[in-house]
Amino acid sequence: MNAKRDFNKDAASWDENPGRVRVAQKIAETIISTGMLDNNDSMMDFGCGTGLVSLALEPLVGTITGVDNSRGMLDVFNNKIKHYAIGNVSTALVDIDKSELPSGPFNCIVSSMTMHHIKDIPLLLKKLHAILDKNGKLFIADLDSENGTFHENSDGVFHLGFDRFKFTSLLVDAGFGSVTAQTATEIQKPDSQGRSKTFTVFLLTAVKN
Ligand SMILES: C[S@@+](CC[C@H](N)C(=O)[O-])C[C@H]1O[C@@H](n2cnc3c(N)ncnc32)[C@H](O)[C@@H]1O
Repeated sequence: MNAKRDFNKDAASWDENPGRVRVAQKIAETIISTGMLDNNDSMMDFGCGTGLVSLALEPLVGTITGVDNSRGMLDVFNNKIKHYAIGNVSTALVDIDKSELPSGPFNCIVSSMTMHHIKDIPLLLKKLHAILDKNGKLFIADLDSENGTFHENSDGVFHLGFDRFKFTSLLVDAGFGSVTAQTATEIQKPDSQGRSKTFTVFLLTAVKN
């Protein structure tokens, strides 16, 4: 469960999975439904992947910097940016375990389905807090606690989802306030034993104190 997953291998076909596209869309819709986005926002999408969430939010914000440690995922994202001539979105190749995040300034950070791939969550939250403006907004979507059957390939899965209330405490410890939690979507899929199972995805919103 500890080896890092090679997302480069999955990148070219990532968007061909309709389930993934739907989940990203639902997460983006839930972020939008908070009414907290602003067309002047300078946003970072941490673990942006192929940009599914970024590109759904792009019309509603000022700029987006997509950050990911997979060159393959960013290649797919960059091809979309080029294809659709999107002028306000850029990407940065960053492994949070090895190098620094872009310094921004950012007043908004989103992260979708990436936290369970990050070993040291308190350290990441500290880093996200450091690069956010005061009163900056944070949106984190990930799996609620699951029994280890969500991923067929558990490489790079450091957390079997999260208890959203314990995650709230981690946010408060990192210096965030006004934390709210809601369910963004459900995912119905066969678990690793082939039985149909429902997994839920939370969205946590928080503001930098
Ligand atoms: C499950 S995908 C989610 C992609 C996208 N946010 C979405 O919702 O479609 C997780 C992403 O996190 C990235 N990631 C994993 N570990 C990372 C790290 N240490 N630093 C930066 N990105 C990382 C992966 O490359 C991958 O693109």
